[in-house]
Amino acid sequence: LKMNNMGVAPLWDGLMQFAKQEPASYHVPGHRHGQLYRQYIHETGLLKQGDVIDALAELARIDVTELSVTDDLHEPAGMIKEAQQKAATYFGADHTFFLVGGSTSGNLAIILSSCNVGDLIIVQRNVHKSIINGCKLAGVEVVFLSPDVEQMTGLMTVPSFSTLEAALHQYTEAKAVILTNPNYYGLSVKLEHYIELIHSYNIPVIVDEAHGAHYGLHTSLPQSALQVGADAVVQSTHKTLPALTMAAMLHIKGSRINLDRLQHNLAMLESSSPSYVLMASLDLARALMEHKGKEWIEQALQLIEELINWINKADLCIKLQQIDKSEQDLDQDPFRLLIYDSTTRMDGFELQREFEKYNIWVEMATTQYAVLVIHLSITEKDITQLKETILKITKSIEQKCYFNGHHSPSNRIHYINEATQISLPMKMERYKQYGSKKTILLDAAIGAKSAEMIVPYPPGIPILFEGETITASICEQIKVLTQLGARFQGNTTIEVGEIEVFMND
Ligand SMILES: Cc1ncc(COP(=O)(O)O)c(C=O)c1O
Repeated sequence: LKMNNMGVAPLWDGLMQFAKQEPASYHVPGHRHGQLYRQYIHETGLLKQGDVIDALAELARIDVTELSVTDDLHEPAGMIKEAQQKAATYFGADHTFFLVGGSTSGNLAIILSSCNVGDLIIVQRNVHKSIINGCKLAGVEVVFLSPDVEQMTGLMTVPSFSTLEAALHQYTEAKAVILTNPNYYGLSVKLEHYIELIHSYNIPVIVDEAHGAHYGLHTSLPQSALQVGADAVVQSTHKTLPALTMAAMLHIKGSRINLDRLQHNLAMLESSSPSYVLMASLDLARALMEHKGKEWIEQALQLIEELINWINKADLCIKLQQIDKSEQDLDQDPFRLLIYDSTTRMDGFELQREFEKYNIWVEMATTQYAVLVIHLSITEKDITQLKETILKITKSIEQKCYFNGHHSPSNRIHYINEATQISLPMKMERYKQYGSKKTILLDAAIGAKSAEMIVPYPPGIPILFEGETITASICEQIKVLTQLGARFQGNTTIEVGEIEVFMND
């Protein structure tokens, strides 16, 4: 990979070449290519070369603004356009939009671009909060579909084919269908038939593939949503590929999405000064994967297999959860490991804390699992460290006495109201006009409508959103999560057992 050869990573290369000229800046940003950081180091002697501020100063050399040579994300015509085209070709899209606000900004923009106020759309219920927020901003009516639960793992996937079929049949006026695949835990459904079905109604399929930016990049990995015909696909490149946090992509294929409208909405939702460092990291991630991805994936998969075989052979109380292999329609991301204590003495949150004791930081925990994201740069040494740590945690588990396990199947958290497969259309509004609100004890809230979004994070799937009826099962799930130490976003009272509800409902 010749990084200085324009055309390999056009945006990255272009910015590097521009930085090499040592251009005199009379424009924003205020650090002036990192000059102020270097000056601080020089003047105070408090920080040395090699300190983080020094690294920041280096990075700031490519932290530029829209100049005649650096192009403009919101009206790309030069090196950003070229970089996006290269990404589109690599990921199999017709058009790719670089995102500097994560998949969040992509989800908001694509929803706003696919429907008008009052339109009806079909959405799987277990979605990231950005989808709910997108629906609110768009002011659409949403028919929520309950997902299937994979039997071995107890985790939610996408709605069943028959649920989707019934919903499409019932709501022929639907303007779009939104699915999330894979889920946070690396479980995914083969979407080809779903997409064929939705297209038979000439409706666009939007797939939130935030956790699957690496899907389809090797024959050993599950196929990507683009490969099976999705119209719009949002990927958090920063999650599983080597891009910086917040750097993501929105891919479009076919003609069901209006590109001008999308470009306009992205410009409305994202900063008018998008970070060149983030954008360049997207270009670089794509270029590195194109050059070395196949080799890296193969090396990593080999090491992951070694770890899996070791865990299976060692016959420890710690096990790896695999999906039901007879389920032909399901895939499991080999880069995501679901680790659990088969004796039920430790729940997922405790396992996470155990790993942290040994300086191993996992992605997230559920009542049952510690979820590990394995990266492409994994080495034999990392695998050895994981094996040693698993043995140490096994010892801690063996010393722990049994008590009533939290994660019997009945206590599995499903993050949704499961009452109906296909909800009645719900009008999503930016500001709910339900009248006044009050904060009451969770136990007293059953049957009331929630006045707030309750979002355990991770995974960021709202267990309740504004206007949803609070059921006994939801109450129980919130209590179990709180007990086990789950974190909630944006809510201060839920952890002390209180919730805000609308008074007049
Ligand atoms: C399914 C899903 N979609 C979207 C997002 C938002 O992604 P980002 O953090 O890139 O904005 C997340 C984040 O965790 C997610 O899990």
